[in-house]
Amino acid sequence: MAVIKLALAKGRLQEEAIKVLMKRGLDCQCLLEKNRKLIFDIPNSCLQIILLKAVDVPTYVEHGVVDMGIVGKDVVLEQEKQLYEVADLGFGKCRISVAGKPELMNYNKKHLRVATKYPNITKQYFAEKGQSVEIIKQEGSVELAPIMGLSDVIVDIVETGNTLRDNGLVILEEIMSISARLVSNKVSIKTKKDKMNEIIYLIANDIG
Ligand code: PRP
Repeated sequence: MAVIKLALAKGRLQEEAIKVLMKRGLDCQCLLEKNRKLIFDIPNSCLQIILLKAVDVPTYVEHGVVDMGIVGKDVVLEQEKQLYEVADLGFGKCRISVAGKPELMNYNKKHLRVATKYPNITKQYFAEKGQSVEIIKQEGSVELAPIMGLSDVIVDIVETGNTLRDNGLVILEEIMSISARLVSNKVSIKTKKDKMNEIIYLIANDIG
């Protein structure tokens, strides 16, 4: 039986994704056990789940090392990898926003220093606005940058808004809404058509 390998982004989407898979009748109990395992065979199915850092999911899918992935639209947009986005899974809803100190509301700066984990999304957004920017790439805890004086603003995902609030920052502009996506390798979708369609239908069916 053909095995379908599904990469699952660790972190903020992980819990919700496992819940969705369980609801669809997939026995993901093994993913809830407290250990450091990264590869899981899902009982009574052709599915193998691989836990990856979110930013690595599109790379694994593009290279065909896995057939599918569940990852945030932010990561898909930022990386522009060769893959198919087959479904919006509806959970993991966030906004990609420009945020900063409240006094920067209605900012009118000729040149803006922007700290972000999303340099490509940021570059495109400000280019469309005709705003000159210096992009400072960060790997995490982006909220620190304007507080510490590394940047004027940040471009980051906002879910509950707690991180901004707890650090005295506010949303200045909303760039777009995002959510979790089911993505697939471009070859697997043809070579493992039946099994892939079965899994896509199972996972993406009845979203909401
Ligand atoms: C994300 C994002 C914000 C926070 C927003 O970081 O970069 O820091 O979550 O969520 P909230 O609006 O619910 O507070 P993440 O937790 O993914 O970790 P990171 O900072 O290490 O990238």
